[in-house]
This record gives sequence, C-alpha cells and structure tokens, in this order.
Amino acid sequence: MSKIITIIHGPNLNKLGNREVDIYGRETLETMNKTLKAYVSSKGIELNIFQHNSEGDIIDTLHREEKTSSGFVINPAAYSHTSLAIRDAITANQRPVIEVHLSNIYAREEFRQHSVTAGACLGQITGFGCYSYILAIKALLEKN
Ligand code: DQA
Repeated sequence: MSKIITIIHGPNLNKLGNREVDIYGRETLETMNKTLKAYVSSKGIELNIFQHNSEGDIIDTLHREEKTSSGFVINPAAYSHTSLAIRDAITANQRPVIEVHLSNIYAREEFRQHSVTAGACLGQITGFGCYSYILAIKALLEKN
C-alpha cells in the first residue's frame, strides 16, 4: 500500500491568486496542488488534499484522515493565531503533523507572529511559498 500524506489548506487559501498578491503571489491553489502532486509523483506516495474555510471541518479532517494517513501538512491560515480547538485536534492526532505558511509570519503584523497551533506540531516551516509545503512533505518522508 502506498503512503498517504494529507494536506490541509485552511481558510481563505481557496482565494490564492487574487488575494493579497503582493504577499501570496499570483499562483492559485489549484496550480499549487498540481505542483505538489508533481513533486510526489515519482516518490510512490499519494497526496490527499483538502481546503476548508471552517474550523470544524479542519478538525473533522484531522480526525477522519488519521486512520489512513502517515502524516499531515497543515496550513491553518488565520486559525494558527487563535484556534485552541485545532491545536487540541493536532495534539490528539497520532501522526506527525507539520505546520506550514506561505508567508513568513514572523516578518508580518504582530498578531500573526504567534502561532497557537505550531507548538502541537512536529515543526513549522514558514515563508517559502509553495516550497514550504514541499519542504514539509520532504521532512515527513525523510525523517526516520
Ligand atoms: C498564512 C498566514 C496567516 O497569517 C494568514 O491568515 C493566512 C495565510 C500563510 O500561509 O502565510 O491566511 O497562513
């Protein structure tokens, strides 16, 4: 059976490409997902990709996909800064979870410079655009 990595894109990331393009660039979520799939195509793993705008959907996906996934890459987006419920769902998850951000949250507004969810994750990769996700997938594949 091939390994499955679940990618969870959080709120407003469906608007990539025409949302704050000076920060997030012009690449759409669809193009980014294609890049991620192309990256794993030769590695014998499968990507399971979700985008959710609501907190409950993110939590449900973490619960449900735990059974079949070997790890998670999550961009909780604005929920990173506020959601103890997502943090608890990550803590409760038995699989490694890596938090990613497209932008460098530590170089932005003060309210973005703290993530309540990152401390429950294996690690955090921030500031490399789509490459943040690729680095996280690489870490899940190569660690151990
Ligand atoms: C983001 C950073 C968050 O602060 C913001 O709310 C997002 C995107 C990022 O990927 O850079 O929606 O998670």
